[in-house]
Amino acid sequence: QSEISTKISLAGKKVLITAGPTYEPLDPVRFIGNHSTGKMGFALAERMAAHGAQVELVTGPTHLQLTNSNIHITRVLSAQQMFEASARIFPQSDITVLAAAVADYRPAEIADQKIKKKEDSFTLNLVKNVDIAATLGKQKQPGQIMVGFALETENEESNAQEKLRKKNLDMIVLNSLNDKGAGFGHDTNKISVIQKDGNLQRFDLKSKTAAAEDITNLIIDLLVEKAA
Ligand code: CTP
Ligand code: CA
Repeated sequence: QSEISTKISLAGKKVLITAGPTYEPLDPVRFIGNHSTGKMGFALAERMAAHGAQVELVTGPTHLQLTNSNIHITRVLSAQQMFEASARIFPQSDITVLAAAVADYRPAEIADQKIKKKEDSFTLNLVKNVDIAATLGKQKQPGQIMVGFALETENEESNAQEKLRKKNLDMIVLNSLNDKGAGFGHDTNKISVIQKDGNLQRFDLKSKTAAAEDITNLIIDLLVEKAA
């Protein structure tokens, strides 16, 4: 991986990264989840730590392991737990990257006992989860940088731009599912990055590690701009 530089350009920077899926319990043995593996968030944690950052990684359930000792990991299950852990860390973070696939809804009630099979059909009542990105975006201070992700199946670029605005992000990474070998569970990703000023950069299909390095370099550029 000779193309990956190891410049210590994030030395002294505190980074908060959310990663993985969330599991929303509905009874003691069941949950609603999604297919996120956490690979992109973990790759970002590794690359940013390699650049000298002190990384706080808040992750939903995943089997991934970390190699860099500059990464402190907090493991959570639900969106609410991910929010609480992230909100504690956020005020001290110079850079926040929201890479988690947070469940938008959770079961309205968690049954104390395993739900028994009865009728032929069963309706589950769901309520909206806290939007971690939008909530932290409202608390963002001028010196803080916030980066989000978006996955869209239609009007990709305009929807991503709208999310960037609504959540008060500095940059949003659009994951394209259109190409074979990109997205959930794969080791590769095809990303586009949109900046607050509307500037859009499309990247080729590449490994999640290489995509994480591209994102890290764009974040370093943002830091340099802010300092100027
Ligand atoms: N996000 C979050 N908390 C949530 C939902 C999303 O922090 N409850 C973050 C994601 O980590 C991502 C960004 O918001 O960085 C966009 O997530 P996405 O699911 O694409 O957008 P939503 O706002 O949930 O809109 P929708 O799913 O309806 O497209
Ligand atoms: Ca969502």
